[in-house]
Amino acid sequence: MSERMTADDAAYDDVADAYHQAVDPDGTGLHDATLDELVGEVEVAGRRVLALACGQGRDARLLADLGASVVGVDASARMLAHARRLEDAKPRGIAYVHGNAHSLSDLGDGSFDGVVCHMALMDIPELEPTLAAVARVLRPGSWFVFSIVHPCYKAPAAGELVDHVDGSVRRTVGRYFEEGPFDSVTRWDVLPRRAYLRMLSTYVNALVAAGLLIVRMVEPVGDRPVWQTVPGLLYARCQKAAVAATAATA
Ligand SMILES: C[S@@+](CC[C@H](N)C(=O)[O-])C[C@H]1O[C@@H](n2cnc3c(N)ncnc32)[C@H](O)[C@@H]1O
Repeated sequence: MSERMTADDAAYDDVADAYHQAVDPDGTGLHDATLDELVGEVEVAGRRVLALACGQGRDARLLADLGASVVGVDASARMLAHARRLEDAKPRGIAYVHGNAHSLSDLGDGSFDGVVCHMALMDIPELEPTLAAVARVLRPGSWFVFSIVHPCYKAPAAGELVDHVDGSVRRTVGRYFEEGPFDSVTRWDVLPRRAYLRMLSTYVNALVAAGLLIVRMVEPVGDRPVWQTVPGLLYARCQKAAVAATAATA
């Protein structure tokens, strides 16, 4: 591994064991209906797919079980140790690379048919270089599926209020314009305290700048009462602009 890695990039090293125990301790892989839906609408079987910021590999295993040839990249060596141990226990042909999403310097231009980045962009310190790296490793016309905690409803000062009349729950949100790193004591305790807020417009503009065009977004209804009134998560599928289309309009 030759990539530059900061303590912020590798913050999951400190929580890797707890995260692994919480999300997929037996290594069966990811179960996520919305991701299944978005990935199910593109060709995965027989394709070369990157699981970006794959952590302990639950998304990489899902993609491999769908028939993809999978490379998983993550900045946390400790998360990858879990991923590799699970691969050794039940080989799926997944190659794990210790690398930085900001550059993906070990991966070639146009070398993937798809990229999945599940629940990670809000944990990755730099958004624009990450999306540029995603666009670089995708072949023209291929797809990028990502999911994030919803930036509009999980801002640094977010909370909940209970209506004293009918008992219903309201989400309260503040400090939405304060983009950048923030420390949250209310994050799930198997996650690092630090996350990175970007406004919804920043995500959309950064995707556009990278040549990744949003073709579908999903804001699923969640299981807790408050997530049945506003969305806690945001998913999207993008398409890398085809070179031919760019040339035609030039
Ligand atoms: C919430 S975890 C999600 C892991 C996995 N996708 C999953 O769904 O279980 C976020 C992941 O982003 C990774 N990450 C954070 N910054 C990164 C960076 N600069 N480059 C690569 N991975 C990074 C962390 O190490 C962590 O594994």
